[in-house]
Amino acid sequence: MVIAPTPPMGWNSWNTFGGEICADLVKETADAFVREGLREAGYRYVVMDDLWENPERAPDGRLLPDPAKFPDGIGPVADAVHERGLKFGIYSCVGTLTCAGMPGSYGHEEEDARTFAAWGVDFLKYDNCYRPEGVESRTLYLRMGQALRATGRPILFSLCNWGQNEPWKWGASVGGHMWRTTGDIVDSWESIERIGFSQADLHSYAGPNRWNDPDMLVVGMYGKGNVAQGGCTDVEYRTHFSLWCLLAAPLMIGCDVRKMTPATKAILTNPEAIAVNQDPLGRQACRVGESWLWGEAWAKPLANGSVAVGLFNRDGEHARRVPFAFESVGIHDRRSCVVRDVWAREDVGAMRAGYTPLVEPHGCAFLTLTPEG
Ligand code: GLA
Repeated sequence: MVIAPTPPMGWNSWNTFGGEICADLVKETADAFVREGLREAGYRYVVMDDLWENPERAPDGRLLPDPAKFPDGIGPVADAVHERGLKFGIYSCVGTLTCAGMPGSYGHEEEDARTFAAWGVDFLKYDNCYRPEGVESRTLYLRMGQALRATGRPILFSLCNWGQNEPWKWGASVGGHMWRTTGDIVDSWESIERIGFSQADLHSYAGPNRWNDPDMLVVGMYGKGNVAQGGCTDVEYRTHFSLWCLLAAPLMIGCDVRKMTPATKAILTNPEAIAVNQDPLGRQACRVGESWLWGEAWAKPLANGSVAVGLFNRDGEHARRVPFAFESVGIHDRRSCVVRDVWAREDVGAMRAGYTPLVEPHGCAFLTLTPEG
């Protein structure tokens, strides 16, 4: 069964809420998905990260939620998410404890997978902390991958080992549908830039049902919440989103979707940007140009023969002209192409050979290029 034919889209509690997760927050988030047009834009998974758990398992070994946060248990919360036409995700860890010190699934893989399936879980983020010494992560991810499969319920398996031991090479073989390629993102331009532009060598590993995950979005956090570190401008958030769309990255929103600004909502729901991310060909962009002066050019081939292009100005102070030669994506210089601006949502015009837009500081020209004739 193809669980993730295109990059998974959803929301995860960690970036903004950390330990402040509870039943009401999950339900209110699911309501906001519907009300704010996120569901319509394609976002599906509402995922609770770490700290939903009770510090102790039940006497019979079952995992339990924190009763103060989830007084009626997890099942009814999952039901509420499903009733809104959405999918429900949860978090656990390969080790004896989760990263935040709650009970991990080590030695309880089958039992926990059955518990998750019984609750109606559709997505499991599986972290990499407190691994017993000498045991490889890959083995432990395989254990949970098999346990999930044995439940018979389709559950998207999201591996979170921070890019250690090259999970892009073995993630799919242990049943994973996406795997983190880096350490944790924080809400700052430096973090976005460091993570986003380091993905250039991984494009050949991504495709339908197997996605590289450069971590969740910080769009719309504005320096507030669990991973806040200064925050970014709307221009920077738009650049972040453009790059993640081009990278065919999972689009897991990290802000409080109950309270999005109009700018945040416009970024997260732009149908043309999302169409690039969700393109059925499933290719991840590669870097096609780079200069210390003007920045970077990245290109992602699309199923209809067009090419999506991101021209990034990494200079935070000056607008720069970022040159893009069509030849760098294999389009002959006599061939005319329609250039479309994804953010303006209008055609720039028909051009030959190249295009060199002026790009604002930390900005990005996000384009599609469609050869004519
Ligand atoms: C790790 C992960 C994060 C988050 C926390 C929760 O750091 O990489 O994404 O899940 O654990 O404790």
